[in-house]
Amino acid sequence: MIQAISRPSMTRVTHCVSEQYDEMYRQSVEDPDGFWLDQAKRLDWFSAPTRGGEWSFDPADISWFADGSLNLCHNAVDRHLRTRGEDTAIIFEPDDPASAGRTLTYRELHAEVIRMANAMKAMGVKKGDRVTLYMPMIVEGVTAMLACARIGAIHSVVFGGFSPEALAGRIEDCGSRFVITADEGLRGSKRVPLKANVDAALNELDHDTPIDGMLVIKHTGAKIEMREGRDHWLHDVATDEDCPCEGMNAEDPLFILYTSGSTGKPKGVLHTTGGYGVWTATTFNYVFDYQPGEVYWCTADIGWVTGHSYIVYGPLMNGATSVVFEGVPNYPDHGRFWDVVDKHKVSILYTAPTAIRALMREGDEFVTSRDRSSLRLLGSVGEPINPEAWRWYYDVVGSGRCPIVDTWWQTETGGVMITTLPAAHDMKPGSAGLPFFGIQPQLVDNDGAALDGAVEGNLCITASWPGQARSVYGDHERFEQTYFSTYPGKYFTGDGCRRDEDGYYWITGRVDDVINVSGHRMGTAEVESALVLHELVAEAAVVGYPHDIKGQGIYCYVTLNAGVSGSDELHQALRAHVRKEIGPIATPDHIQFTDGLPKTRSGKIMRRILRKVAENDYGALGDTSTLADPSLVDRLIEGRQNR
Ligand code: PRX
Repeated sequence: MIQAISRPSMTRVTHCVSEQYDEMYRQSVEDPDGFWLDQAKRLDWFSAPTRGGEWSFDPADISWFADGSLNLCHNAVDRHLRTRGEDTAIIFEPDDPASAGRTLTYRELHAEVIRMANAMKAMGVKKGDRVTLYMPMIVEGVTAMLACARIGAIHSVVFGGFSPEALAGRIEDCGSRFVITADEGLRGSKRVPLKANVDAALNELDHDTPIDGMLVIKHTGAKIEMREGRDHWLHDVATDEDCPCEGMNAEDPLFILYTSGSTGKPKGVLHTTGGYGVWTATTFNYVFDYQPGEVYWCTADIGWVTGHSYIVYGPLMNGATSVVFEGVPNYPDHGRFWDVVDKHKVSILYTAPTAIRALMREGDEFVTSRDRSSLRLLGSVGEPINPEAWRWYYDVVGSGRCPIVDTWWQTETGGVMITTLPAAHDMKPGSAGLPFFGIQPQLVDNDGAALDGAVEGNLCITASWPGQARSVYGDHERFEQTYFSTYPGKYFTGDGCRRDEDGYYWITGRVDDVINVSGHRMGTAEVESALVLHELVAEAAVVGYPHDIKGQGIYCYVTLNAGVSGSDELHQALRAHVRKEIGPIATPDHIQFTDGLPKTRSGKIMRRILRKVAENDYGALGDTSTLADPSLVDRLIEGRQNR
């Protein structure tokens, strides 16, 4: 049992102390409507809601604040002009520390958002239209999201590391007729050909006019092709005229964000306006305990939900100063994070275990040679943090002064669900902690029976919360099937979890066919589909295995067409092929060629065996007698050992 670490004494915490947490948590579950209608007051509403949560998980039908109307761009930007227009909203830190950064006050951010919104309107974007953003981590990524929210368009941000093929699928799936991108992105001094990738994606789509318009931001100044009539430079079409915020019903869609699941292609998770706004504003306030004037930095990319909720909406709705970082942790050297912390006097740092582990490997010197005295609070998100990395983050990065919030949540949950609160709770390295207000976790066995006390099981949530996703875009049935059918009447997270005797939750990882690679969700089925698209591949099965830095690595078993044999060249070719189909984050770590996959007589692949072999754990293979060809197991093990 790992010892709890007392919360360090913090002089400036005002948001919540332990007794308050207990009382507020009790209220939040006993009277959720009263609690959340009260929290909703932290936002500016054009018409304040009187209705709270109206929802069912069977069938899934979820609504919060249904009679309220508001605009999240107004809440993130305009409402601050009167009180803190000259305060810094965004600090942009470029990839190359020698390049010029940028700082925008709320007033300047307002002006930029309006220019972006007017440019979008000039292209013909209207309320309800889907707009795909394929952006580098620059200010315009943020202003494009906010401009969509302002005019009521639904943004679908696609991470700039995804391939043209993956981008094409996401443009097509939500019927997006508009794209916003930049000439190029920069990451660790490498150039990412964003505009060219969009062109390639559009060529993939078999229509003559797959989109109506594209807005391009000049970032690196690279030479790119602009198609007459379709592609517009932002600086050519942006104007400063007045552009009022659309009044949005609380349940009007705000954004779609694609995420991987255990089957099929990525799902367009749909979030709406009011509930998501209240959830991100409230969680940001309590979890990060933000104090006016502090600099807050979340190192995620806006292409992921963490960037949506905790670079853009949560911080800006709270009037915070949010850092937008274009670069990577190891460029120009492994001290970059701490240089940025010192340069901008960052108080609150929110990053991922994979980054912590990668930096930890490089030794303490990169950290201790930097000052870091501005840091007050550290956060972790995206995957379980191993206690060793937690300790290093706490002892070395935070010099033992800064509490850590290990925040468990998902694209589908909109914002943080389980975490300790910095001023309220002791921390346990490796445990996310306790449920946030309104969250009722339940651990169930494989038959769905609720388990009490200190126990391990499948993590479900039994009652809706405002930030919950409402649907899968265009496929509500898939939404129900994915999240509400395994354990009827409950939202199933897909995660395994242990609860200890203090009620702390310890996420053990995914229990479905999703793997978590460097904090990014990857469906094994997606990688398999990419592999079998290769002309020499007959069949493929993909599993995760423990990886020192990435948390999980991608392990692929591949059977080749008759007469083809595996080689180093083919190994490399398949890795390149998957990168091309999905993107670099899906690059297989290992490919094992095999003459067959372990299947039952009815043809079902026994993934359990493949996982164990990939993990090099042959003692616990379990019953293999139901395999159509039990002798295959020995050949798989041999192949693994000869790798
Ligand atoms: O397995 C959990 C893991 O990441 C999954 C959600 O991934 P995604 O939707 O991409 O969102 C990531 C950022 C919120 C979860 O099902 N996960 C996320 N945070 C944690 C975590 N696992 C353990 N501890 C966490 N703090």
